Amino acid sequence: MEATVYIETFGCQMNVADSERAETRLQNAGYNLTDSPALADVVLFNTCSVRERAAHKVFTRIGEVRRQRLGNEPVVGVMGCVAQLEGDTIFANSPSVNIVAGTRATDRLPVLVDRALKGDPRVIDLDERGPQDRWEVSAQSRSSKYVAFVPIIEGCNKFCTYCIVPFSRGREKSRTAAEIINEVRELRGLGYREIHLIGQNVNSYRPASDVGLEGFDGVTPFSRLMRAVAATGIERIKFTTSFPRDFHSDIVAAIDEHQNLCNWVHLPVQSGSDRILRGMRRGHTAGDYLRRIAAIKNSQRRIAITSDIIVGFPGETDEDFEATLKLVEQVEYDALYIFKYSERPGTPAANLSDNVTRQQKAERFALLEGLQKKIQRQTYRDYVGREVEVLVESHSSRTDHDLSGHSTCHKVVNFPAQSARLGEIARIRITEAKANSLYGEESARAEGEQREASEV
Ligand code: 5AD
Ligand code: SF4
Repeated sequence: MEATVYIETFGCQMNVADSERAETRLQNAGYNLTDSPALADVVLFNTCSVRERAAHKVFTRIGEVRRQRLGNEPVVGVMGCVAQLEGDTIFANSPSVNIVAGTRATDRLPVLVDRALKGDPRVIDLDERGPQDRWEVSAQSRSSKYVAFVPIIEGCNKFCTYCIVPFSRGREKSRTAAEIINEVRELRGLGYREIHLIGQNVNSYRPASDVGLEGFDGVTPFSRLMRAVAATGIERIKFTTSFPRDFHSDIVAAIDEHQNLCNWVHLPVQSGSDRILRGMRRGHTAGDYLRRIAAIKNSQRRIAITSDIIVGFPGETDEDFEATLKLVEQVEYDALYIFKYSERPGTPAANLSDNVTRQQKAERFALLEGLQKKIQRQTYRDYVGREVEVLVESHSSRTDHDLSGHSTCHKVVNFPAQSARLGEIARIRITEAKANSLYGEESARAEGEQREASEV
């Protein structure tokens, strides 16, 4: 009998994509995949280490699964960022773990799992990707039938001082444009309607063929790739995450020229204080950032803007924090992800004293969240009475008769099911703004009919 494998994924979209790739590899090697840890011979956790709490989660989950499976313990593997960073110390600290597979061991998982199943109690692989490795994901391994993640660049060279990613995922490595375009064409052929080009910093996309070419005449390899992907005709293209210093106006120009490049940009600022931004080694000031925002706001379509902010970076004063509040007020984000600073061992910021108290972090978090809620209430209200195009992705988590999806500007939109079906793009007239989603009804015009106006 072939062994059955269960994979549980924590963290970012890159981990989701890497788990999909792992599933494909394991399936090709003859393993069966299951959605239930109770039925699996092998339980793999694809882990995240971006903040301390995320990194601990896997160990809680290992305990839970083992308790469920007393007397019939599966082979347990830790893969991804925690595996890469903690390496063989995981074996010592969690003796029930049999496999430690780093962020670039995905394609070797079938061999690693095989060794563990044959009785090797400590299988470890923290190596780089190999020459045969490829991003290849079968349709059945994808987590959605309608939205697909397409990694374009792995790793990060930025070394922001608080961030563990350059250590857990290594240096930037871009896929070739040909490989990406082929994948998008294939996805389109399979009926996918939306793709997300993903990477820790998509704007620094630079395939090996472009290395050494300096000065792109104002046209970066990323915006060239965007246009090439747009030309495949796939209906909706989104991309995350952008990095302010590498975000140039050619990206906005590409969005302006191609309707299928969606009107949403995720551009994390992290702080509104120049002093803190310097301490974070972000390579931009608040002013530089706001100039990028102005260019985005000058676009012909209304482009939704979202961001990440860290509160309580070492040395952050009330004055620094006020600069963040001011910036958030100026930008009027469509959504904001706020994080309390979490010291990551091995990062440059870990040498600074984490001197903002827990209470201060909590207060700043609440203040910023309150401000964003107020801004968002207004932004979301502005959608009432307008129509948006929604890719219908699932039944709503709240009620069975509601459908749910995302607009081109990446807002969650729910509506009662009428004629729209899963996988279709529906025109929804917004009737109500909730705190983090929009509610509406199907507009009379059916899919494919002439658009009268683009989305707000
Ligand atoms: N502490 C808190 N937040 C962090 N992030 C990254 N590293 C840390 C850290 N050490 C946040 C950043 C990043 C997002 C993915 O996670 O805001 O943009
Ligand atoms: Fe981390 Fe900065 Fe790289 Fe983003 S750009 S992954 S925050 S080091």
